[in-house]
Amino acid sequence: MVAETHLTVNDLVLTAIVSDAGPDRVDIPSLPGVQRLSVNALVEEARRAADLGIPAMAIFPNISENEKSEDAAEAANPKGLVPQAVRAIKDAVPEIGVIVDVALDPYTSHGHDGLMEGDIILNDPTVEMLARVGVMLADAGADIVAPSDMMDGRIEAVRQGLDDAGHTDISILSYAAKFASGFYGPYRDAIGTKTALKGDKRTYQMNPANIDVALREVELDLAEGADMVMVKPGMPYLDVISAIKAEFARPTFAFQVSGEYAMMKAAGQNGWLDYDRIMMESLMSFKRAGCDGILTYAAIEVAERLKESH
Ligand code: PBG
Repeated sequence: MVAETHLTVNDLVLTAIVSDAGPDRVDIPSLPGVQRLSVNALVEEARRAADLGIPAMAIFPNISENEKSEDAAEAANPKGLVPQAVRAIKDAVPEIGVIVDVALDPYTSHGHDGLMEGDIILNDPTVEMLARVGVMLADAGADIVAPSDMMDGRIEAVRQGLDDAGHTDISILSYAAKFASGFYGPYRDAIGTKTALKGDKRTYQMNPANIDVALREVELDLAEGADMVMVKPGMPYLDVISAIKAEFARPTFAFQVSGEYAMMKAAGQNGWLDYDRIMMESLMSFKRAGCDGILTYAAIEVAERLKESH
């Protein structure tokens, strides 16, 4: 009765990994309980999530080696895995919101989010391509486009591209404050970029030591047309979430990333910590910090638990 903060199923966004290689469901060793899903299995997962009342899901692709290239051409293929997955979900489970990640890293042979020349990331050519990819995914039926690449100026370009294509009603969730983090490890396993990645992402993702730059990035992204902003990773950056919410009062999301999830799962599996309890505590901490929603690999199990406790 006197609790200040509440966690409900409305706060959850399911993150799911789709693959077009192999069987319907493949375990990911560093992400226990999460599987790479075929498009069919992804649709089943969308159905489960929608039936539990989860409002949206975010899709991440595992692209086979032979479709990765220097120029990430597959990212813009309207018959590619992600547009296929979006269409399949929207056909079968129209009531769930579909959020698409817009970045080139699943598609580049070097695993970076941008196009490269030598070891330099080419900001502007990447931005131009991201805008095309965003439009293509909106054409496929995505409800929310979420650029996760951290190039400069991409929100404005994606907004312009969407508007020019008649997608004025498609929202942008910007990965605005994305830190160069060690917590993305299992995700890079899951989408198959870990061994490919040359160097690191510190020229475009942010230094964990800095909060001023996070506020500037959010300010820019909002000015460029972002409808919602995200902080990533989540739990080590609760202060950033709180500062952003206080400063801008806009829909603010956290991504409880793969490493956060894996850490809690592993400790739970070893009997060192009570997984169910710390997962709920961690999600509650996002709400307390001011988040409007949380992207999490645990969305389905958490939604089930919330339902049981009612
Ligand atoms: C990059 C991207 C990342 C994640 C999703 N999209 C981070 C990265 O590889 O730099 C991480 C998600 C997670 O760890 O769960 N476009």
